[in-house]
Amino acid sequence: MNPIDTLSRPLHDLRISVTDRCNFRCTYCMPREVFGREYEFLPHDQLLTFEEIARVARAFVDLGVHKIRLTGGEPLMRRELESLVSMLAAIPGVEDLAMTTNGSFPVKRVQSLKAAGLKRMSVSLDSLDDATFKRMNDADFPVASVLEWIEASAAAGLGPVKINMVVQRGINEHSILPMARYFREKGLILRFIEYMDVGHSNGWRLDDVVTARQVRDIVNAELPIEPVEPNYRGEVAERYRYTDGGGEIGLIASVSQPFCGACSRARLSADGRLFTCLFAVKGADLRGLLRNGADDEALRQTIGHVWQKRVDRYSELRSAQTADLPKVEMSYIGG
Ligand code: GTP
Ligand code: 5AD
Ligand code: SF4
Ligand code: SF4
Repeated sequence: MNPIDTLSRPLHDLRISVTDRCNFRCTYCMPREVFGREYEFLPHDQLLTFEEIARVARAFVDLGVHKIRLTGGEPLMRRELESLVSMLAAIPGVEDLAMTTNGSFPVKRVQSLKAAGLKRMSVSLDSLDDATFKRMNDADFPVASVLEWIEASAAAGLGPVKINMVVQRGINEHSILPMARYFREKGLILRFIEYMDVGHSNGWRLDDVVTARQVRDIVNAELPIEPVEPNYRGEVAERYRYTDGGGEIGLIASVSQPFCGACSRARLSADGRLFTCLFAVKGADLRGLLRNGADDEALRQTIGHVWQKRVDRYSELRSAQTADLPKVEMSYIGG
């Protein structure tokens, strides 16, 4: 039975964070001042094992979920991720299996992930110039290698490949047009994401947000675009296509035009807690259930109840006050 929450929203997608670690230190996500040497990441025994993750995923599929995304942190920081991918791909009912990565691992992993059963790849990239990229991810990593990963993903048929660019005022606004031109040429979908106040460490201010409207106007002035119907109800990105038929872009307006009304995403943290909002404070402890010998029915019931009680609509309520409320970090809960 597919559970429905208090605002009539069905449970449709599951986003699984497989690790809270990352080899980058993006200033908007894991700033080095907070996530430095002394930062205590989750110890290994607190992470769900791949078997546990697959069991939770099966329970979600029984409840009507057909779409799974692997996130982190950086999912490839978890060793042998391919074995998890093949376990998830083997679950009958998993129709869509995607992953979000920073594209910094050896390109041969693209083929092994594809072979394991991954269907789609999304890659984070905030600029095409090394200086801006480095300034944002605070790790010395060449843009060219990420572009290779993107290229390999498209060649492997892990499409439509999407490129996620977080836009921050005064930091990478100048990269909007070069990124649009480049990925238009490649026929890949670039999505511009409004900088959000996730977690507590990025020092977010509303003034730092370049809104989706502003991005649209910048792109449209040089490369005319027009809106396209969403692929499905509750799609996060607003779609636009180039009027000359040169492909499409997405605008993710989570701050200026929140999409909580159709939000159907559940999130499983690396330590097995179930969160029903990116901005939630507490998650239901599924790991405890699993490790205390709960059966599948008990697992399904807990997930169903949590979803039925769900009231989240943080982005619609966002204001100067909410920015200071306690919340978990995005690297922990999954982007
Ligand atoms: P598709 O499966 O391709 O439709 O992916 P998606 O559109 O859900 O995109 P993806 O999972 O790559 O998310 C892109 C970005 O959108 C994330 O990194 C977040 O910044 C933002 N985002 C995704 N889901 C949510 C959400 O539920 N709430 C908020 N506020 N932001 C979200
Ligand atoms: N605002 C918007 N998106 C963010 N991400 C991480 N932190 C933020 C933030 N503060 C998203 C980006 C990145 C993905 C891994 O997480 O989309 O591509
Ligand atoms: Fe790592 Fe992605 Fe967060 Fe950057 S945005 S620190 S690449 S998890
Ligand atoms: Fe969903 Fe929470 Fe994001 Fe709103 S803020 S769209 S409820 S995850």
